[in-house]
Amino acid sequence: MTKRPYIVGNWKMNGNRAMLAEARAIDRAAQRYPDVEIALAPPAPLIGTVREAVTGIGVGGQDCHTAAKGAHTGDVSAAMLADIGADFVILGHSERRRDHGENDVLVRAKAEAALAAGLSVIICVGETLDERDSGKAEAVVSAQIDGSVPLGEGAAVAAGRVAVAYEPVWAIGTGRVAAVEDVVAMHAAAGARLVAAFGEDAVRVRILYGGSVNGENAIGLLGAPGVGGALVGGASLTADAFLPIVAAASQVSA
Ligand code: 13P
Repeated sequence: MTKRPYIVGNWKMNGNRAMLAEARAIDRAAQRYPDVEIALAPPAPLIGTVREAVTGIGVGGQDCHTAAKGAHTGDVSAAMLADIGADFVILGHSERRRDHGENDVLVRAKAEAALAAGLSVIICVGETLDERDSGKAEAVVSAQIDGSVPLGEGAAVAAGRVAVAYEPVWAIGTGRVAAVEDVVAMHAAAGARLVAAFGEDAVRVRILYGGSVNGENAIGLLGAPGVGGALVGGASLTADAFLPIVAAASQVSA
C-alpha cells in the first residue's frame, strides 16, 4: 500500500486561466518530491485545462451529482469529471454542507456515484466551534464518518480509493489551526470508526487534516501520528505558498 503523504490543494471558487501558471509550477516541482502524492482540485471550469497542463500531479473536482446525467441544471456528474480526466472528487466539504444543505446521506450517495464512475473520493468531515466547545467534536465527526463513508464500498477502500479529510469548520480559512494533539485524537477516533466499518482494510484510508495549513505549521501537523496528508485551501492558490507544504510532507515521510 502507498504510505506516501497526500497533499491536495482545494482551490474552492478561486482561479482563472491565468492561474494555470501556478498549476504548472506546482507540477514541475512535483518531480522533486516523488515521495509525496500531490493533487489539485480547481473549480469545475478549469478542471479540464489544468488536467491538460500537468503530468505529475492528480487533478480532481470539488463536488459531483449522484446521477450520471440528466435534468439537473448547473450540476456536474462524476462520469463527466472522469471523462475530462479527473482522478478524484472532494465530497461533503463543510462549505457545501453549509451553502447547499448537503447531509451525510447525500454525501454517501455522491461517493458511491463517484466510485462507480472510477474516481477516487475525499470525504470531508469536521465539527463546528459550538460542537467543539460543548465537548461533542468526536461524536459529531464519528457520526459524519459513519453516515457519509460508503459502507458497501469495501473493494474501493481496499484499493486505496477512499480518503477522509478531517477539517474542523472553525479552522477553515481562519488562520486558527487545530492543536496537533487534538488532530491526533480526532484522527485516532476517525480511524477507529473506519476499522469498525472496514476491518484491516481501514489502514488504506488516508486521513488528511485540513484547516489553515501553511508552510509554517505543516511539519508539525504532517508529522503527527495518523495524519496521512493535508487538504489545503488558501495556501494552495500559489506555488510559492503550496510547495513548502509539499516539502514538509516530503521531510516527514523521509
Ligand atoms: P484553508 O486552508 O483556506 O483554511 O481551507 C481549508 C479547506 O477547507 C480545504 O478544503
